[in-house]
Amino acid sequence: MAKATAIAHPNIALVKYWGKRDEALVLPHQPSLSMTLEGLSATTTVEFGDLAQDEAAIDGRRLEGGELARIVRTLDLVRERAGLSKRARVASRTDFPQAAGLASSAAGGAALAAAASWAAGLDAGPRELSILARRNSGSACRSIEGGFCEWRRGEAADGSDSYAVQVAPEGHWPELRMVVAVCSDTAKAVSSRDGMRHTVQSSPYYPAWVEAVAEDLAEARAALRARDLDGLGAVCERNAWRMHATAMGAKPPVVYVRPATLAVIEALPGLRSAGAPAWFTLDAGPNPVVLCLSRDAARVQQALAAIPGVLKTVVAGPGQGVRKVEQAVF
Ligand code: PMV
Repeated sequence: MAKATAIAHPNIALVKYWGKRDEALVLPHQPSLSMTLEGLSATTTVEFGDLAQDEAAIDGRRLEGGELARIVRTLDLVRERAGLSKRARVASRTDFPQAAGLASSAAGGAALAAAASWAAGLDAGPRELSILARRNSGSACRSIEGGFCEWRRGEAADGSDSYAVQVAPEGHWPELRMVVAVCSDTAKAVSSRDGMRHTVQSSPYYPAWVEAVAEDLAEARAALRARDLDGLGAVCERNAWRMHATAMGAKPPVVYVRPATLAVIEALPGLRSAGAPAWFTLDAGPNPVVLCLSRDAARVQQALAAIPGVLKTVVAGPGQGVRKVEQAVF
């Protein structure tokens, strides 16, 4: 088997990852917790063959420079493990709605790790795939499994104990929804990678952020277990504010919120008191992701869509982990 295809979905953190203790190995300072999303996906085919060099394309766009180098680094790790020297052709297709405001890096990193491992004939389980995906993009390690996943910080210097494990399958809470309120369709000015590095290096609040995550994580886990939306929502909001507060404390500050971001956040207490529990989280960008229940999703979507500055909304429930598909991209 020299060719394999994998499909994976993005994930959104309920308790965020923000900051690496090891840049090269992509090791976090703290654990994080996420939900894998259904619907949106990246499908990636990898084929090892007689090529002069690795080549890769996403949605028909040929990758070069830093983007290609990131894929080659993952292929190199797989080749090393499999004792392979052949170069690879990689093609990825995404079905993310245009300007979904969702980073495709987690889905792409997970699909690449799996497709490359399978094409190389490796018998890699979820733990190995999660570690490999982590090296491509930290949050990608949480897209190997479906439902709700916790990325363990780990202690080992080589990163062998820093990977994600499923804490609840997608069927645990099928009514949970995330509504993405897209407030900007342009690439963010500061990438997660740069923003977190700068925060670790220059924010005096960074140690407090790391310390506070333990409490947030324990509460989020308990609320998730009990399917307590108000409990989970309150932790998510607090944790997102804490992440953004430590970034805003950097020198110079890293600020991702825009006026429309705040307008969405301000609309949520009104929805809650009108009987539609809705709580936000916010990644390293201006687009809030609102947690609610399926019965209220249309109402929440409608309310958010009416806010000036909200360009569109996308709704998704809990999705599956990475898996093999027969239909190759090429
Ligand atoms: O994995 P990266 O480098 O895309 O960083 C993700 C950082 C956040 O999305 C802000 C938080 C998270 O845990 O996903």
